[in-house]
Amino acid sequence: MKKKILITGGAGFIGSHVVRLFVTKYPDYNIVNLDALTYAGNLANLSDIEDKPNYSFVKGNIVDGDFIHNLFTEHKFDAVIHLAAESHVDRSISNPIEFVMTNVIGTVNLLNAAKQLWKTSNNQPHPDSHRDSNLFYHVSTDEVYGSLGNEGLFTEKTAYDPHSPYSASKASSDHFVRAYNDTYGLPAIISNCSNNYGSNHFPEKLIPLAIHNILHSKPVPVYGKGENIRDWLFVEDHARAIDTIFHKGKPGDTYNIGGHNEWKNIDLIMLLCKIMDKKLQREDGTSVKLITFVKDRAGHDLRYAIDSSKLQNELGWTPSLQFEEGLEKTVDWYLANQEWLKQVTSGDYLHYYEKQYISR
Ligand code: NAD
Ligand code: DAU
Repeated sequence: MKKKILITGGAGFIGSHVVRLFVTKYPDYNIVNLDALTYAGNLANLSDIEDKPNYSFVKGNIVDGDFIHNLFTEHKFDAVIHLAAESHVDRSISNPIEFVMTNVIGTVNLLNAAKQLWKTSNNQPHPDSHRDSNLFYHVSTDEVYGSLGNEGLFTEKTAYDPHSPYSASKASSDHFVRAYNDTYGLPAIISNCSNNYGSNHFPEKLIPLAIHNILHSKPVPVYGKGENIRDWLFVEDHARAIDTIFHKGKPGDTYNIGGHNEWKNIDLIMLLCKIMDKKLQREDGTSVKLITFVKDRAGHDLRYAIDSSKLQNELGWTPSLQFEEGLEKTVDWYLANQEWLKQVTSGDYLHYYEKQYISR
C-alpha cells in the first residue's frame, strides 16, 4: 500500500516547493495537497506537477474542524506535513485574529484529527515504535525565539519570546504540537526555519517586493534605517531539510534550519539593486535611487540568526547555495515569470499596499 501524506499549504511559497520535491522524488507516496487558496495560495505554483498520478489537490480551510475530521476519515493519512499558515508579519499587525484562527485553531484541528485517526487505528497513544507509520511534522519559524542582539544564535534550547502577533500565533501552535506529543503520544516533529527566499514568493515579503518594485521603477520601502538583520535560506534548501527531517528526524524533537547567512536589510537591498541593474541592463546605480526609508515596523525584531548544527551534524543536511548565486537565480525566475507576478498582484494586492503606505 502506498503511503498517503497530507501536505497543508502546498499552494503557497514554501509548500509548493515541498509538494514538488515529494511528488517527484517519491513516486510511491500519494501526496494530498490541502490549501484554502487564500491570497497567498496559487495553484499555478504547481502547474508542472499537477498531472502526476501520485498528486491530488483538495481545496479547504483548516479552521473548519468538521471538514478536517471528515478529510482524515476519508483519506486515512499516514503522515502530515503542516505548512498552511498566515505568514506575513505586517498583516498580523493589522489583523491578528486571522492569524489566531489559521495558525492556532487550524493547527489544533489537524492535531485532533490526527490523534483521532491514528489512535483509532492503533487503539492507543503512539509510542516511538510507530515512527515508521505516522508522523505529524509541523513547519515553524525562528521568529518564535524573539530577537537577538549583536551576538549569539538561536538554538533548539532558546526560550520562546515571540513579539509579533504572527510569531505569537506560531509559538502557540508549536506549544500545541508539543502538548499533543507529550500528552497523547502523538508522534510529532517541529522545525524552526529562518527567512526563505526563492521563486514563487508572494511579493509582499522584502525580497520579492523589492524585485517587483525595481522592475516597475517604484519606491523600494526599507523599514527604519534598514539595520535589522535576517538569516536567509534558499527555499529549495528548506524543502530538502524538511525531506531530511521527515525521514530521519526523531519524534518529539525540534530542529533548527538556517543557512548561516546573515544580512542587514539595507546591504541586501543594495546587492539586489546591483543585480537588478545588471539583469535589466540599466546603468549601475539606477535602482539604488528607488530605496525609500519608511516608518519602522511596530515591534520590529532586530536580528535573527540560526544555529542549525544539530540538523547538520545529526541528520547530515547542508545548505547548497551561496546567497549571491541564490539571489541571482531568484531574480532570473521573477524576470522570466512576469505573468505570474502580474497575476498575483492583481486582485486586492495594490489596494492593500496603497493603504499600508498611506498609513506609514
Ligand atoms: P505562504 O503565505 O506563502 O503560504 C501559506 C499557504 O497556506 C497558502 O497557500 C495559503 O493559501 C494556505 N493557507 C492559509 N490559510 C489557510 C487555511 N486556513 N486553510 C488552508 N490553507 C491555508 O507561506 P510560506 O511563506 O510558504 O510559509 C509556509 C510555512 O512555513 C508557514 O507555516 C510559515 O510560518 C513557515 N515559515 C515560513 C518562512 C518564510 O520565510 N516564508 C520561514 C520559516 C517558516
Ligand atoms: O524568520 C522567518 C520568517 O521570515 C517567517 O516565519 C515569516 O513567515 C516570513 O514572512 C519572514 O518574516 P520577516 O518579517 O522577517 O520577513 P519580511 O520579508 O516581511 O521582512 C524581512 C525584513 O525586511 C524585516 O526586517 C522587515 C524588513 N522589510 C520588510 C518589508 C516587507 C522592509 O524593510 N521593507 C518591506 O517592505
